[in-house]
Amino acid sequence: MLYAFELSGEHEKLPQAEVLASLETLGLEFVPHAFFEQCLVLDIKGSKEAVEKILRGPLPARLAMTHRILKVVGIVKSQPDKILELAKAFEPSAFIQKGETFVVRAKRIGKQVTFPCEPLEKKVGGCIYRKGFRANLKAPDVSFRLLLSEQTVFGTLLSSVDRSAYEIRTPQNKPFFHPGVLMPRVARALVNIARTKAGALFLDPFCGTGGILVEAGLLGAKVLGLDAQEKLVLGARMNLEAFGADYVLLEGDACKLPLKSETIDTVVTDPPYGRSAAVLAESLDKLYAGALSECFRVLKPGSFAIVVSDKPAFEYGEKAGFELLEVYTQRVHRSLTRTITVFRKPV
Ligand SMILES: C[S@@+](CC[C@H](N)C(=O)[O-])C[C@H]1O[C@@H](n2cnc3c(N)ncnc32)[C@H](O)[C@@H]1O
Repeated sequence: MLYAFELSGEHEKLPQAEVLASLETLGLEFVPHAFFEQCLVLDIKGSKEAVEKILRGPLPARLAMTHRILKVVGIVKSQPDKILELAKAFEPSAFIQKGETFVVRAKRIGKQVTFPCEPLEKKVGGCIYRKGFRANLKAPDVSFRLLLSEQTVFGTLLSSVDRSAYEIRTPQNKPFFHPGVLMPRVARALVNIARTKAGALFLDPFCGTGGILVEAGLLGAKVLGLDAQEKLVLGARMNLEAFGADYVLLEGDACKLPLKSETIDTVVTDPPYGRSAAVLAESLDKLYAGALSECFRVLKPGSFAIVVSDKPAFEYGEKAGFELLEVYTQRVHRSLTRTITVFRKPV
């Protein structure tokens, strides 16, 4: 069965990577079907009931860079006559049940489609009405959506991601604030890309105010944070308490982790860049080399480690023994572009 993910436009690649990794973490098998601007279509295998239970609950609760998840009715060329043909021809029983009401909403993505959406919504609504269903614009049982870009994806809404929850957790809204932290949506996407499972032991050895740990904690991971500065350990504690995390915090050096080898399931970390955050080491070079080699030691084989930096970190990771999987860049402002490096410890 085909499902579409309406992605946020905040990054070219991270939203897609977050969806694919999260499906894997939740144990769903899938085959990529298509990708149009901000719209990823996947063929997800398995029983429809089991798949949709995950797509309605655990998956949207986990994702940060997706707006909505749809069940796909069909995909056609972005031409009004083709869209109407599909709306007339589709068999409704898999999407709307007898007696249920509906609404149709259309959204243009990018600049490829120039025709107006409102008349199309009405015409498609007319097709569904003629199949025996009543429209209800305020409280419909089923929302049909048309995502118009290079192609048009027509589907019904399964779930929406509550993106406002991430605004509530912006660094300034947390009990303890310190500048230079990742925004919660980025932190959550990275925690997802690292395949963080509920119950997993999650480590951030440069935890600062605990922003990454909060996101992992909200997914049910047991989080372990370390920072060289006492005031940040105390601040991280306030933030983790506020979000009810299951946590342990330590003051210490990321290059000398007081942890046994192969005990940690996941690492996501944002070490200092040598700009504003304090560097407690002889040099940045020694800090990155030492910390990555310690992360490698404490991680279980097959586990993921993600490092956020303002310069390439792959050489440090590869020297430590990691396999390099992906590198993303994220422009923050004119003088800061972050590099996000995804590593895996070989099995
Ligand atoms: C960029 S900040 C981390 C920001 C963090 N992601 C947050 O949400 O607040 C880097 C942190 O690394 C810490 N740090 C610097 N040298 C360290 C070391 N040798 N071991 C552990 N932490 C260190 C700094 O105190 C700082 O809090």
